[in-house]
Amino acid sequence: MTLSPKGLWIGALLVAGLAGMLIATAGALSAPSPLQLRAHLAGIARDGLPPARTPYPEQLPCGDILVPIDKQHELAPDCVPNDLVELAGLGLYLRADAAAAFAALTAGASRDGYSISASSAYRSYATQEATFAWWTEQLGPEEAERTSARAGHSEHQLGTTIDLCAPAGCLESFSATPEAAWVAAHSWEYGFVVSYPNEREAVTGYVGEAWHVRYVGVDVAVRVRESGLTLHEYLLR
Ligand code: DAL
Ligand code: ZN
Repeated sequence: MTLSPKGLWIGALLVAGLAGMLIATAGALSAPSPLQLRAHLAGIARDGLPPARTPYPEQLPCGDILVPIDKQHELAPDCVPNDLVELAGLGLYLRADAAAAFAALTAGASRDGYSISASSAYRSYATQEATFAWWTEQLGPEEAERTSARAGHSEHQLGTTIDLCAPAGCLESFSATPEAAWVAAHSWEYGFVVSYPNEREAVTGYVGEAWHVRYVGVDVAVRVRESGLTLHEYLLR
């Protein structure tokens, strides 16, 4: 299940390619190059680091889907969800409830005329370590901190978080798509929250990621939406 960072990209492209073959509306698929990402990051004003918070222990309990995992709070390296299931046809894994919710979300999107796939879901501590190292190599250490979590600090290790793709692409290529707008408007109906909204870097510690959604259940997703807070703020309130 562990993939190298390059493997992740190749995997992402394969997944996107498969999705593209399965849907009539598929257009050209693309992943952003490191150069595009660097330009994107340079265009986003740096608005400070998130404040330190301490109501939770720095070492989070394993298995709780509502832990406030962030730059201050981490999961143990051996924390692996015990109910990971494979997402049909994608070679990716999520916890059972999140996987069912993802299937419902893609079906709902499809009913509304949108095609949504995914490039990454559960990532082990070791995979996240390799992922962060790869971004550091591509972007340099400062910019990598704005876009990738260190090992132990990624929501992907929870097994409830997924990076969505559109026919037009994944990651940055997803951001301006109609699918991204649909996700922003409807993902809460399926229990997902966009963890890192645009222009909330000072709170979340990360630049906007329209594609990165975390399953928290419909009740919590509704409350987060009504609160106007980021998920990070809501879980720490
Ligand atoms: N890109 C998000 C912050 C992660 O690495 O979990
Ligand atoms: Zn993600």
